[in-house]
Amino acid sequence: MRQLFVAGNWKMHGDKASIKTLVTGLNAKADSVGNALVAVCPPAIYLDYTKNCLMADNIAMGGQNMAIEPVQGAHTGETSAAMLKDVGCQYVILGHSERRAIYGETDQEIAQKVKTALDSGLTPILCVGETLEERESGQLESVISQQLDAVIAEVGIDQFSGVVIAYEPVWAIGTGKTASAQQAQDVHAFIRGQLAKLNASVAEKVIIQYGGSVKPNNASELFSQPDIDGGLIGGASLNADDFIAICQAAGEQ
Ligand code: PGA
Repeated sequence: MRQLFVAGNWKMHGDKASIKTLVTGLNAKADSVGNALVAVCPPAIYLDYTKNCLMADNIAMGGQNMAIEPVQGAHTGETSAAMLKDVGCQYVILGHSERRAIYGETDQEIAQKVKTALDSGLTPILCVGETLEERESGQLESVISQQLDAVIAEVGIDQFSGVVIAYEPVWAIGTGKTASAQQAQDVHAFIRGQLAKLNASVAEKVIIQYGGSVKPNNASELFSQPDIDGGLIGGASLNADDFIAICQAAGEQ
């Protein structure tokens, strides 16, 4: 039985005042999320501040991106895995579609970052997903396979038991268009099946989150699917009540 895991991806949102309000709201209701694993992923510059505001010991923290190089060095503007760990991160989101599309991150670079995270003791949340055009032209499975295969080639299948996968159809991110529970389940089952071909016990263990316009009113239906093990939440993670409601939906499964 996999534990459900909900992570909030704050993206490039917030300031000290709004983070204080948000985290105070999370602290107040953190004990209502039952068995769900919960994490928040603030912008890098606010990680330390967020950690200081977080009082709930069942809410972990993650970065939103990370350098390939694991430790400090001459990499202006980058954040290392060691730095993320130093300020209290347990997770790091890697390969988000915004990083792929806007910043040109390649499957190969993302795979290297996953390796760095694992080697450094961080749990990567590896995002995969297709665009609408790819889905409509029948490339869904090949795109997802290619994104996964690059990482499998870099770290090996056995290491995937330490990786969280987030399936995020690009067309559903921030658009209000959620994949239907069945559409999402189909892709989650496909992802698990691809891993199972290489190692069935790893495939059984790996947490696969769904991301893309998850809200309090659709979370339960999504999370009740057999291969959906929680969510990566963007917009709704910026409101404490909405995020907690989504975590509660995960905790009730
Ligand atoms: P959304 O974002 O929930 O706002 O659609 C999800 C994500 O991009 O991680």
